[in-house]
Amino acid sequence: MAKRVTTVTFQERKRAGEKIAMLTAYDCPSARLIDQSGVDAILVGDSMGNTLMGHPDTLAVTMDDMVHHTRMVTRGVERVLVVADLPFLSYQVNPEEALRNAGRLVKEAGAHAVKLEGSAENFGDAIRMIHRAGVPVMGHIGLTPQSVHQFGGYRIQGRDAASRARLLEEAQGLEAAGCFAIVLECMPPDLATEISAAIAIPTIGIGAGAGCDGQVLVLHDMLGWGQTRFAKTFGDVKGLMAEAMDAYAAEVKGGAFPAEEHSYT
Ligand code: KIV
Repeated sequence: MAKRVTTVTFQERKRAGEKIAMLTAYDCPSARLIDQSGVDAILVGDSMGNTLMGHPDTLAVTMDDMVHHTRMVTRGVERVLVVADLPFLSYQVNPEEALRNAGRLVKEAGAHAVKLEGSAENFGDAIRMIHRAGVPVMGHIGLTPQSVHQFGGYRIQGRDAASRARLLEEAQGLEAAGCFAIVLECMPPDLATEISAAIAIPTIGIGAGAGCDGQVLVLHDMLGWGQTRFAKTFGDVKGLMAEAMDAYAAEVKGGAFPAEEHSYT
């Protein structure tokens, strides 16, 4: 069996200058495929709110949703690191609640680490408490989708000197609080490169250019459902599914399916 990817592997990759590849997944068959690929880690993202559940954003995703989907993912993997998102209002109220919810993702769903959005100034106590309990925490700064209404939409962050300085400080604060890695979402590539050079833990970029220590993409975005600038389609699975569905409907309606070989004799 291939060697298991852990948070220690993440640190080793950064030190060796080797990139980390991460994808989201929300179900067992997708997780199994990812586990057998060259991808290093799965994020069970609260992006399931938009991607899977049909919500306009991530805000409606609950702890029960996260536990349910993280369980499906961990059942399908033997090798990759599984990071599960703490959804909106599962860690913002107080650090004790944050720890209890992080614990659910580990105890009930088998996650190896959790991710939360925001700065150490706001959530440092929660991060430290989860970290002290032995659960690795991934940070997430830049465009943090749980704050979409505060941002006034999904906008690039770090465009002026003040917000660039703030994001660099936030990254350093999250490292000091004990995060093992940080997602940098939607910011100018030169800023993400600067942040990556300024901290010792790996940065995982999405819409943040090639200077990060790794990349994460939403699975459905890279399989043809993506509409954002940074979501490259690596395979038109959406197109293939549409073709297969049309072909099935045509064969059923034309009487070509099921043929004799699809029937019990
Ligand atoms: O929920 C998610 O999929 C994420 C990625 C966009 C980083 O947080």
